[in-house]
Amino acid sequence: MGILACVIGWPVEHSRSPVIHRYWLDQYGIDGAYEKEAVKPEDLERFLSELAARGYAGANVTLPHKEAALRVARIADAAALAIGAANTLWLDAEGVLHASNTDAYGFLTNLDAEAPQWNDGLASAMVLGAGGAARAIVYALLAAAVPRIRLTNRTRAKAEVLARTFGPKVEVVDWQDRNEALSACGLLINTTSLGMTGQPPLDLDIAALPKNAVVADIVYTPLLTPLLVDAAKQGHPVVDGLGMLLHQAVPGFERWFGVRPDVTPALRAHVVATLGDG
Ligand SMILES: NC(=O)c1ccc[n+]([C@@H]2O[C@H](COP(=O)([O-])OP(=O)(O)OC[C@H]3O[C@@H](n4cnc5c(N)ncnc54)[C@H](OP(=O)(O)O)[C@@H]3O)[C@@H](O)[C@H]2O)c1
Repeated sequence: MGILACVIGWPVEHSRSPVIHRYWLDQYGIDGAYEKEAVKPEDLERFLSELAARGYAGANVTLPHKEAALRVARIADAAALAIGAANTLWLDAEGVLHASNTDAYGFLTNLDAEAPQWNDGLASAMVLGAGGAARAIVYALLAAAVPRIRLTNRTRAKAEVLARTFGPKVEVVDWQDRNEALSACGLLINTTSLGMTGQPPLDLDIAALPKNAVVADIVYTPLLTPLLVDAAKQGHPVVDGLGMLLHQAVPGFERWFGVRPDVTPALRAHVVATLGDG
């Protein structure tokens, strides 16, 4: 039997991970399969304890299991511990369950690929949002030695928790002051769900943003969010959220199937064709 991996979620049907991993399995001619596993929160721990018995080498974890998966894993890497959530699990030769979070890796690798100059002389970045994804983005920016991060969120208390977690380089800005706070920011990242298909629009005026600032959105349905359309019109380099999704899948695939896969325009086109209306 070939190597098996899966994505675990509740619900799991919406996950794009099978599209990515099955594409690579096919491209590299690997004898393996990538399944979807719908697991209720109360069943997660038992499911993970049976991962090997079910024949799995490892798994991706999606909502609402990312925090619980980190608690269940015996060994976690620095990214998963700092972010407080796991999205990638694997069993080692002794059957010990390891956890990683590859969202920060995916975000940074994509930013490096799409806007290679993003960090040259960067003094300050602005992050919109303080949810689960924002934790990965703030961790990524600090790992990339960004000197200062302005963090703004509708619910200020959540931004303050993040700032306390990640230290003095993270400064909380009131949500109502977000437009003016864009001045002097060389990188703007939307990590809220605003602008996503079916969600309210992001109300942001980027007039104060320095002209060469890079604008990234981690929302990928639509691919070009209104924020990115607006930023591109004003001449900013823009980076969409799909690249992060593709790159975050690389380390897991390599762990389970033994081949480090490439993120190519053909993979991107293949996934874009499945996005539909989101
Ligand atoms: N590209 C990728 O690989 C990738 C990876 C992860 C996530 N994402 C996307 O990132 C987005 C956020 O994910 P998440 O897991 O961080 O979600 P989350 O934990 O639910 O956080 C949602 C964030 O959006 C804010 N928000 C929601 N509705 C708002 C509104 N009406 N006005 C102002 N702020 C609002 C929330 O603010 P409050 O705290 O005030 O509620 C919070 O900061 C989703 O669209 C997700 O699909 C993309």
